[in-house]
Amino acid sequence: LWVRNHTWKKNKLPGPFAWPIVGNAMQLGQMPHITFANLAKRYGSVYQIKLGSTYIVVLNGDSLIRKALLKHSVEFAGRPNFVSFQSVSGGTSITFRSYSTQWKAHRKIAQATIHAFSNANSKTKKSFEKHIADEAEELVESFIRKSSSHQYFNPSHELTVAAANIICALCFGKRYGHEDQEFRMLLGNVNRFSEVVGAGSLVDVMPWLQSFPNPMRTAFQSFKELNRDFFTFVKEKVMEHRQSYDPEVTRDMSDAFIGVIDQADKETGLTEAHTEGAVSDLIGAGLDTVSTALNWMLLLLVKYPSIQRKLQEQIDKVVGRERLPSVEDKADLAVLEAFIYETMRFTSFIPVTIPHSTTSDVSIEGLNIPKDTVVFINQWSVNHDPEKWLDPHIFNPWRFLDENGALDKDLSNSVMIFSIGRRRCIGDQIAKVEVFVILAILIHQLAFEKDSSQELTLDCSYGLTLKPFDYKISAKPRGSVLNSP
Ligand code: HEM
Repeated sequence: LWVRNHTWKKNKLPGPFAWPIVGNAMQLGQMPHITFANLAKRYGSVYQIKLGSTYIVVLNGDSLIRKALLKHSVEFAGRPNFVSFQSVSGGTSITFRSYSTQWKAHRKIAQATIHAFSNANSKTKKSFEKHIADEAEELVESFIRKSSSHQYFNPSHELTVAAANIICALCFGKRYGHEDQEFRMLLGNVNRFSEVVGAGSLVDVMPWLQSFPNPMRTAFQSFKELNRDFFTFVKEKVMEHRQSYDPEVTRDMSDAFIGVIDQADKETGLTEAHTEGAVSDLIGAGLDTVSTALNWMLLLLVKYPSIQRKLQEQIDKVVGRERLPSVEDKADLAVLEAFIYETMRFTSFIPVTIPHSTTSDVSIEGLNIPKDTVVFINQWSVNHDPEKWLDPHIFNPWRFLDENGALDKDLSNSVMIFSIGRRRCIGDQIAKVEVFVILAILIHQLAFEKDSSQELTLDCSYGLTLKPFDYKISAKPRGSVLNSP
């Protein structure tokens, strides 16, 4: 402990005064990413805070974050050994385990498997897109049903089911009905996950919160339960796959992982448990993220009806009313692409990445950061960096279109929502296809309206993902092509 404190004192990083016991926990506020960006104005892009007894380095701003995660990619590629992280995916998670040779092998297999089932050739592309289109069509029907029985409804749960079904179809070759009880129960708890693993959550830095009854202890207990239930669900499905496994026929991603990881060579040290860990990670990562993206997009469509109309106009012009939109229309639907990028930038719905840690001592901007330091990477500050974006606080999809109405690829690529470097999201490509196809089909098929008796705000709750507060919409069919003979 002395050595550690000594190192910190010697290399003291700038940062706010930290109070005894709580450190800066009371200063984080409701929206820690905004607090972090404000602190950067005072202390610079790299500074330290203290949460409980843990020192944390916070990185802010477009150029600094790119420099850290690309030029010092390995040094910033660790994950802290938080207790909460150990409860995820039975302790064999890719996402919540630190950097090591074994982790690299595990991540590489997952990356290759995602590619094999979504983008490897025209057949896999087609089958992946078919899963998405099927879910989108289910959503259209379910939204119409909800509108006719309740008029106004909140779409979050249905969006989670759709996102879950797409990733389950890839992993297990099976989707679940919107009314499936086991599935509904499993998905009902996902919010708890985001609250506990989000940067700034206090369960890991103030372990003493576990010793007396308080809301944080309750949240952590239900977090552990939800991880256990979720992992049990995944393990059962993978076990069923093992029992009927045929090396000649790879039915889905579970089979692919069984083929590669169960039989992994001794050098990587990967075991059957890592097969289950990989499947559980992909399902977990693919649920809350994609559904939160869509949730914000529906909210923004009803908040800005004139933008919704522009999107409908372009889709109708490019696609017509005789067929549904597909991923092939992407290049011609620049306004929709711009709307998607602007939603990701403006909301920055994963405001801070999953916490990183340093794998060795590292020096950046002349500041020395010791090995095993927890690092928060403020993606929101990249997407709202005034050096980079004109009027960053304004929702304006047109910023991504050039004078010919085409997507400015350089600008859209500089939106940071999937992180960068060694810990970059491995589902970014499939996530983008999912969001594009679902949104295109929804806008083509339905006109969304807000509940005029309710004030529509963009207020949200903080966690790993930012979630809009409860809001209600209605969905009216725009002349369906789905049920035409
Ligand atoms: C990690 C964003 C969808 C799989 C991450 C991280 C972010 C992110 C910010 C953390 C990166 C870091 O810590 O630096 C998103 C967004 C998505 C999305 C915005 C949807 C719009 C998906 C999907 C999958 C996936 C669909 C897979 C099916 C993963 C995995 C990791 C990860 C496995 C852990 C990577 C690691 O720790 O090395 N994602 N993600 N994500 N994502 Fe995604």
